[in-house]
Amino acid sequence: MEVKKVLTSEQKEFKKLLLKLPKTEIHLHLEGLASVETIWTLMKKNNLQYKNINSKSDLKKKFEITSLEDFLDLFINIIQNSFINENDIEYLIDDAKNYFLENNIIYSELFFAPSKFIQSGLDFKKIVNILTQGAERIKKDHNIDIKFLIDVSRSFGIENAMKNLDLVLANPSKAIIGIGLGGSEKGGPAKEFAKVFEKAVSKGLHVVAHAGEDVGPQSIWDSINYLKAERIGHGISAIQDEKLMTYLAEKQIPIEICPTSNLFTRKYAKTLKEHPVKVFFTRNMDVTINTDDPTVFSVNLVEEYMNLLTENIFTKKEILLIIKNGVFATFLPVARKKEIWKMILAEIPR
Ligand code: ADE
Ligand code: ZN
Repeated sequence: MEVKKVLTSEQKEFKKLLLKLPKTEIHLHLEGLASVETIWTLMKKNNLQYKNINSKSDLKKKFEITSLEDFLDLFINIIQNSFINENDIEYLIDDAKNYFLENNIIYSELFFAPSKFIQSGLDFKKIVNILTQGAERIKKDHNIDIKFLIDVSRSFGIENAMKNLDLVLANPSKAIIGIGLGGSEKGGPAKEFAKVFEKAVSKGLHVVAHAGEDVGPQSIWDSINYLKAERIGHGISAIQDEKLMTYLAEKQIPIEICPTSNLFTRKYAKTLKEHPVKVFFTRNMDVTINTDDPTVFSVNLVEEYMNLLTENIFTKKEILLIIKNGVFATFLPVARKKEIWKMILAEIPR
């Protein structure tokens, strides 16, 4: 959802530069990249019918959600539900490839949440093969690196989350580097998933968690203390807790801010101006900018940055620093992070 504004010539120049800069994105869901075209094609191919969806434009209208719970209903019961065999996931790989090319994203850590797919009868091993081969193809054809974080999900209970972790461990892939905790933050407190995350860490996986998107600061503390989350997805309710903001800044725990997503789910900000992102940045927290679910929220990474500029939240210089944060908050080796930042610097006129 790009804020519709006539750009000044200086802003147009900056947009051109943003497009040209190689970028990373670290909070993005593969299923949230499904184009309307993909879901419509799968609905027809797989003979699926959903209430009040009789055309592509009905489907697009369904994406106009105003709470996290409504969003998750759409995400699980329409988007994820439309995949009835493993090869359907190829459509997502293609949508992801197009999105990365459009935004000049050269490295991404992408969530994939298998719970609903497994419920629908898809085989995890085959899913892993498709994700791994998809990543290899995109690397070979476009030199874009993709790593996956498997969202074990808080929406289907603890046993299911542990089962997802065990599947990850039983099907190792170079493309899968860790786990995440998405889904209903209200329905699945972080604390309950401590054992799952402890086991993941002991097996050398990276761990991240959505927290403070729909629930207050305690959810963020719990993700740090019980899950040992290396990054916090959203984290916006930290604005209510001075100590937490100080802690996040001191420990430099990156927060994956998804501004447009937060305006859709409406819990802690209804406009960009009231979004806590600037306060976080000013307090020296490790702010990164992401899109979460680009198709549902009709936004891409370049637009997220442009909105922050045109709404006077950040200056151009600050946006470049946030792009740098997005590189150094990845799970890449330090040498590769430095290499990417060097590539970015080479494109910035001085
Ligand atoms: N899955 C996809 N997007 C999500 C979000 N914003 N919060 C929780 N789970 C999600
Ligand atoms: Zn998310």
